[in-house]
Amino acid sequence: MSKSTRLDSKENESEHLPIYQHKAKLIQAVKDSTFLVVTGETGSGKTTQLPKYLHQAGLCKDGKIGITQPRRVAAITVAQRVAQEMQCNLGREVGYQVRFDDCTSPSTVVKYMTDGCLLREILADPVLSQYSVVVLDEVHERSLNTVTYKIDLFLVYLLQDILLGLLKKMFSNPAKTPKGRSIPLKVVVMSATLETDKLSAFLGGCPIFAIPGRAFPVTCTFGFAVGPKDIESTGYAKEVVKVALDVHTSEMAGDILVFLTGQSEIERACDLLYEKAESIDYRYDVQDQTVEGLLILPLYGSMPTDQQRQIFQPPPSGIRKCVVATNIAATSLTINGIKYIIDSGFVKQLNHNSRVGMDILEVVPISKSEAQQRAGRAGRTSAGKCFRIYTKEFWEKSMPEYTVPEIQRTSLTAVILTLKCLGVHDVIRFPYLDCPEERFILEALKQLYQYDAIDRRGRVTKLGELMVEFPLHPGLTRAVLKAASLGCEDLLLPVAAMLSVENIFIRPGHPEKQKEADKKHRALAAKSGSMNDFATLLSVFQSCKSSDRPSAWCKDNWIHWRALKSAFSVETQLREILLRLQQKDFPVDTFDGNKSELFRRCLCTGYFTNVARRSVGKVFCTMDGHGSMVHFHPSSSLFDQEDELNWVIFHDVLVTSRVYIRTVCPIRYEWVKDLLPKLHEVDVYELSGVAREEVTDEEMIKWETREAAKRQPEVSTEDVM
Ligand code: CDP
Ligand code: MG
Repeated sequence: MSKSTRLDSKENESEHLPIYQHKAKLIQAVKDSTFLVVTGETGSGKTTQLPKYLHQAGLCKDGKIGITQPRRVAAITVAQRVAQEMQCNLGREVGYQVRFDDCTSPSTVVKYMTDGCLLREILADPVLSQYSVVVLDEVHERSLNTVTYKIDLFLVYLLQDILLGLLKKMFSNPAKTPKGRSIPLKVVVMSATLETDKLSAFLGGCPIFAIPGRAFPVTCTFGFAVGPKDIESTGYAKEVVKVALDVHTSEMAGDILVFLTGQSEIERACDLLYEKAESIDYRYDVQDQTVEGLLILPLYGSMPTDQQRQIFQPPPSGIRKCVVATNIAATSLTINGIKYIIDSGFVKQLNHNSRVGMDILEVVPISKSEAQQRAGRAGRTSAGKCFRIYTKEFWEKSMPEYTVPEIQRTSLTAVILTLKCLGVHDVIRFPYLDCPEERFILEALKQLYQYDAIDRRGRVTKLGELMVEFPLHPGLTRAVLKAASLGCEDLLLPVAAMLSVENIFIRPGHPEKQKEADKKHRALAAKSGSMNDFATLLSVFQSCKSSDRPSAWCKDNWIHWRALKSAFSVETQLREILLRLQQKDFPVDTFDGNKSELFRRCLCTGYFTNVARRSVGKVFCTMDGHGSMVHFHPSSSLFDQEDELNWVIFHDVLVTSRVYIRTVCPIRYEWVKDLLPKLHEVDVYELSGVAREEVTDEEMIKWETREAAKRQPEVSTEDVM
């Protein structure tokens, strides 16, 4: 096919999208009001078409059109698609910018970007003077989060709340153009149909433009495999593979979309599928004789760009496409030709776990509304089928009606710091769309104070201003900055990068292979010299980087080459941020001691909130006031350590029937002795500054008594190692 006919067909294709018939009215609606909510089911053409229409209508004569996406992959692939449709090179009229990857030029007028990018632009230019239209897309996604604390996707869901709040504040008088702008700014908020009334009410009762849908019926069936009692099992991934093969062999032609929860799980499922699909005899096993093969494609947020494009290509004739995806395929991306959905019923979600007092990335049942959204992906071009692998009882007993917005269930540390750096001092009365509980805000203030990001009166410190620049967990940022001030960032940057990508250690399903992988992983830990999981990460990073054939090295050591490649790129990007900050006024510190101590002491400055001390036998007890009983996770190199080890810090926690700590490092009590009191001493109402006036004395006394009761007993000198 020649290039031009392909482009023409794309243009024609877009005329068949539901949004096309409403083009003129839609343009008018944007022109008529400051805020507009646009709703329409996933795949109706909102993301790709609306910006194009506004461009054609001349709305970017005086400024750019900026469209935000919660996910990096979506921003990039959509920009590629729109550039093709508008017949320009990507990066010219149509471009994208995601953190660490700017594909725009001075001629860019339609710019796709992540929410985080727009937020950074607001930081630099509070009235967004370069823009004529800002489109906040996928706003419902704020409640359907899957990935967090991962670089670039870092907190984007919460950032939408901040963006909405800031844009609302910018127009406190909606009839007026914000001060400092010569042209009026138009704000379009796009969403799947779920919460449009709430959005419109939040934006002062602005108009809602609904694009009528065109969905075909989808028949849903429940399975037998996963019942309410199986919530902690991982058996669903295997079941999903089984059902996918059943569908492939027994159903008529049409592509399959499988929903799983994360990268490593998806890759394992794909491997298993490849393996099983190889033994299919297409003459006898397959019902539809026009089907002659299976094309298996993984899809997840951190996937390399070159692989993403394949997902949207129609498969060769006779071949059935099977995309194995995270929740990203539920709303952010639409793949044409999907006729069958296989729904695992689970999603990876960041939750605040009150048992351990921490945010934990957990695999949890999806909500019913989410399950319906997933099923709907099969009915876009013709009638479809959705195979739920879970039982009807699971649906009734384990699945909530709706998903709770992330801002209401996770730690707000980074959000609050961002707001403070934006000059929003009163973080309690900020206009959040879903107002978080006050205790979470206070908790975040407390953490920021503990990390020295804000002072006692809630004002951002110099360190806080540096910290906000890093897309990492504040504790990890703190450790990186400490290392940089001591001139040893080479120790911490790779570790921060390794902790920002998905698990790098391959865990094969086959028991024999599992043993082999375990052996290799233990050898890698031993090679790092000390029993310290952070040091192992550093050593893996360095060994692979200095290897002549890094991908072969990874294969040999059962390490995910793709994950490691992203870690290399993240490390470079973090280094760039650091270099930029170091050009200004950057703290300098000194330390004399050996390298291992230096490394672990830097970690302590960020992880003193995650300290545990030996309680009895192999059981440790956390020191953060929760006093949870924790165990080393089997993947830790400290798992079968019997020695004198009394104090450790850890990166995260895995909650199953027990509470496991993962990525662990032994420390000495003296290193955290002076930091630990910080976990208890602070008066959170003082930190919130403005909130204080509202607190009655009586409440204050009650609160203080409660806090005092939580305080840990003094540690006796016998515990000191
Ligand atoms: O935003 P909304 O869900 O309403 O739809 P969209 O993302 O604009 O998608 C409209 C159409 O473009 C769908 O049929 C997608 O399959 C297609 N598309 C594509 O082929 N390649 C992309 N990178 C993005 C969208
Ligand atoms: Mg969209």
